[in-house]
Amino acid sequence: MGLFSLASEQPWLPALLVAVPYVIYKIQAYRKLSAFKGPPGSGWFELWHITAWLGNNSHLKFKEVCDKYGVIARVGPNDLVTSSREVLSQVNAVRSPYTRTRWSARMARTRNGVDNILSEMNEEIHVRKRHQMAPGYSGKENRELESTMDVYIAKFIHLIRSRYLSTPYHVTPFDIGEKTQFLAVDVINGIGLGESLGDLDNDEDRFEYVKQMRLGVRINSILTSFGFTWVQEIPWIARRLQPKEEDAIGLGRVLRHCRVRIQERVKRGLSERSDMLASFARHGLTTEDLVNEVIIQLIAGADTTSTAIRCLILHVLTHPPVYKKLQDEVDSAVAAGKAPAAPGIITEAAARSLPYLQACIKESLRIHPPLTTTLPKRVPDSGDTVMVDGKPVFLPPGTNVGYSVYALHRDKRTYGEDVDEFRPERWLLEKDEARLLAMNKTHDMIFGYGRYQCLGKPIAQMEISKAIFELMRNFELSLARPENPWKQENVLGLFFHEDLLVHAVDRVQGVTA
Ligand code: HEM
Ligand SMILES: *[C@@H]1O[C@H](CO)[C@@H](O)[C@H](O)[C@H]1NC(C)=O
Ligand SMILES: *[C@@H]1O[C@H](CO)[C@@H](O)[C@H](O)[C@H]1NC(C)=O
Repeated sequence: MGLFSLASEQPWLPALLVAVPYVIYKIQAYRKLSAFKGPPGSGWFELWHITAWLGNNSHLKFKEVCDKYGVIARVGPNDLVTSSREVLSQVNAVRSPYTRTRWSARMARTRNGVDNILSEMNEEIHVRKRHQMAPGYSGKENRELESTMDVYIAKFIHLIRSRYLSTPYHVTPFDIGEKTQFLAVDVINGIGLGESLGDLDNDEDRFEYVKQMRLGVRINSILTSFGFTWVQEIPWIARRLQPKEEDAIGLGRVLRHCRVRIQERVKRGLSERSDMLASFARHGLTTEDLVNEVIIQLIAGADTTSTAIRCLILHVLTHPPVYKKLQDEVDSAVAAGKAPAAPGIITEAAARSLPYLQACIKESLRIHPPLTTTLPKRVPDSGDTVMVDGKPVFLPPGTNVGYSVYALHRDKRTYGEDVDEFRPERWLLEKDEARLLAMNKTHDMIFGYGRYQCLGKPIAQMEISKAIFELMRNFELSLARPENPWKQENVLGLFFHEDLLVHAVDRVQGVTA
């Protein structure tokens, strides 16, 4: 009796043949991580995970699960998230056997089949790339870094002064969040490419890069939520979805801008300047590599840094005692000659020496980390044991371990009872050295850790310090819509802000726009 004739007599049989292995598989998958607690159903189905990513507050969802179910919580059949610094340090350590997971790595590709430092899943290649690129990200091999940065900080201040000043006779509200986005995009292209897209000069989102990028992240967020990132690797779909260099707008258009600039530089000789491109090329990156890596800098660095600046602006403007202290520190630095007269730009070294400014930056990054993607890593095939509260915990092979960003940076055990409050003084007044060290080490995680630590951290810190110092010195800022200061959405761990409307009054006499 053949299977088909059996099937026609027993119509439930084929269904059973599929269902039984599936149920066995589901039970095994469930049991693999049954030691970890999570929201109802999360051990069986992806639904919790999917809804968390599809909502506009995933950072809070991932915090809630750790608050409720422990420092390692289960958010999907094969997915854990943790708020433990110790666990994250072990997972991301320089010599860790963990690897990137497919869904998180592949969403960082800009073109099908082509990897960059953020999407590379082969750790040997990833580590080699880091070594090739780290010198270019630092000021050591990129001596033009600070002077290039200053050009764009000056343009940012000039843009506000020339177009958006308020006076007692006329008030001009403007979205300062949009201008910080222009600043961040221009800075990355200025540093990475030697030429910006011209956002600040034109006071516009050139080639609709920001708009199209946000749309791209939204599409990615839907594909990622349903675990469909592989769809983008199907050539027929990839050809339609991925940016094309002939496009008139968006990432494709920006890719063309990058390619043209890089080709010009290659023709003239890359070593004619001491910048990022020259350093990367010296360490073996090909022209094609340069195009890929420059574009990923924009994706990794522009939104994050501008979010950081926006969050700091909002927190300073809503805490008058902080605003006053910060402005006093800035004014004293100017009076003491630590900063050149406006429109000159404070040096990185001088900005770093201002304790209250640095405490404000640290506190704002803590209370509102700009990147909250869980950045999961895969447990090696041998499994791994981590320590949680002094007890060993076994992580089974192949499990995805993600990072619950808000839970870590709002942990009362590290920061005390007022962890949800913006209080820069916590960084200056803490007397307990051990506690301060733990706070510092926790804070470092905002930029990732070990083998994956953010290469752009020094650039971001320089940009935030200078931008905030110069805003404080040049303008008196106030919120234009205090009852609803901005619109915020979290998409795939990035924050999209709109309508951070402010008024800016000039504080500096004699500087003409
Ligand atoms: C406040 C701003 C920023 C924050 C919070 C931030 C955060 C992070 C985090 C958490 C990671 C780790 C990813 C992982 O674990 O897989 C990372 C990686 C990275 N970031 Fe940033 N970042 C910022 C700014 C920048 C800037 C300005 C640039 C470029 C100029 C940049 C370039 C990179 C690169 C290239 C990596 C990949 C490192 C690797 O895979 O080895 N970031 N960043
Ligand atoms: C914490 O970090 C600050 C810099 O942000 C540093 O000045 C201080 O010495 C550090 N303290 C400890 C105990 O690590
Ligand atoms: C975020 O989602 C909530 C509820 O789903 C909605 O009311 C709100 O308008 C959304 N916010 C934005 C900025 O889209």
